Amino acid sequence: MALAQKNPIFGCISWGKRYLLPLREHTDCVMQIVVEHSEALRGEVQVPGAKNSVLKLMAVTLLAEGEYRLTNVPDIADVDTMCDLLRALGVQSKKVGTHELVLTNSGNITPVAPFEFVDRIRASINVLGPLVGRYGSADIAMPGGDDFGSRPIDLHVAGLEAMGARFELNKDGIRATAKRLQGASIELKFPSVGATENILTAAVLANGVTVIDNAAREPEIVDLCNMLVAMGAQIEGIGTSRLVIHGSKKGSLRGVRHAVINDRVQAATYIAAVAIAGGDVQVRGARPEHMEMVINKYTQMGVSIYPQRDGLRVTAPERLTAIDFATLPYPGIATDYKPLLVAMNSISSGVGIVTENLFPGRFRYIEELCKLGADIRIDGHHAVIKGVDHLIGTAVTAPDIRAGAALVVAGLAAHGETVISEIHHIDRGYDDLVGRLSGLGADVTRV
Ligand code: UD1
Repeated sequence: MALAQKNPIFGCISWGKRYLLPLREHTDCVMQIVVEHSEALRGEVQVPGAKNSVLKLMAVTLLAEGEYRLTNVPDIADVDTMCDLLRALGVQSKKVGTHELVLTNSGNITPVAPFEFVDRIRASINVLGPLVGRYGSADIAMPGGDDFGSRPIDLHVAGLEAMGARFELNKDGIRATAKRLQGASIELKFPSVGATENILTAAVLANGVTVIDNAAREPEIVDLCNMLVAMGAQIEGIGTSRLVIHGSKKGSLRGVRHAVINDRVQAATYIAAVAIAGGDVQVRGARPEHMEMVINKYTQMGVSIYPQRDGLRVTAPERLTAIDFATLPYPGIATDYKPLLVAMNSISSGVGIVTENLFPGRFRYIEELCKLGADIRIDGHHAVIKGVDHLIGTAVTAPDIRAGAALVVAGLAAHGETVISEIHHIDRGYDDLVGRLSGLGADVTRV
């Protein structure tokens, strides 16, 4: 019997219980972001490259020898951590300026991902597919990242097992082995982003054709497919829920130059900032076609959003209107948008009900919003938010990347000073949030 079936641990591994700090910013444990009540925001903000894309793109450099040049790379701590992990595996990296990364795979790969790096980011699990597909084995310590409660990997394991990989658990993590993976028909019981990515990146070097049904179709998966195709992989159905991958011979893929897509969650963060503080801002590089549902929700709340040649123009209403929403796989409302929408609901007129369908643990920041005066009640995986006239600044703690950013944005509408600590979480995924908000006239500083 396959290990994914007989060993329930793949279905209940809890990721990211530890919070190791990014190496480059150990001093951040004492840093804070201070936000003062903000006047209306004005001007332009440029959306950086997507964290949820770049880390996965970096992992596929394991698939083939060569030089890879990634542009539009966000300047975030998780990229540094991924560089550390890839270096430990044998891929060298060099930053060119702040937003370009050159990765070199010289073929000298050791397929053992050490715990010290893997534990810091959840995207480290993305080395599994390339390692087992290209080198026939992968030893991976359990992945880390934001602590959203249970983050199982049973779908990753079951998909790779269907292709012939064998898995075992040991005290350090998981070990996967395979001679050569064989193409297979895999239907995911849920369109998991991570499982789709690992099966896809293993399948590009498998023998024969792999079909992934009910695949995730996030824009970041499209970006990954586009880079793989440029490397020489053959993939049909890109952007749909059925991916067909024709396996290529080992050694037939090559290094490429690739521009990371812009970050739809960071774009949504700047729209939320305008919605909360008021104002009129151009969000340059926002891609409305990647954000249809969330733009729809913002519009229902009263925010005016006008597509422009290079992004979106955003203007805020006098007062936001509360909305109901539920998180769903793409093209639904991503779980990453939720803290922003909850922060907006907390100062809207009316009552909004929010349902979290993906990660039940992802409500922990609500306690922090309540410290600011928000009126929110949690009932299972629902949150009921009664809008208040204004928030009141106080000391709060960032529990994860997106919730941390939502607390900063909420602080713009709070009377007095909001002091956010544990900001290393924000630095993991936001490229100069403070600088970008200050550029729009917000009174936000790092101290
Ligand atoms: C998730 C989000 C993604 C977001 C990312 C970073 C979804 C569908 N995915 O991707 O948009 O950018 O977090 O915050 O919104 N699951 C299993 N078994 C598995 C894998 C997943 O049961 O093997 C379940 C998870 O428990 C969860 C759901 O599937 O309930 C979505 O997981 P998945 O898409 O894999 O998460 P991420 O790849 O982290």
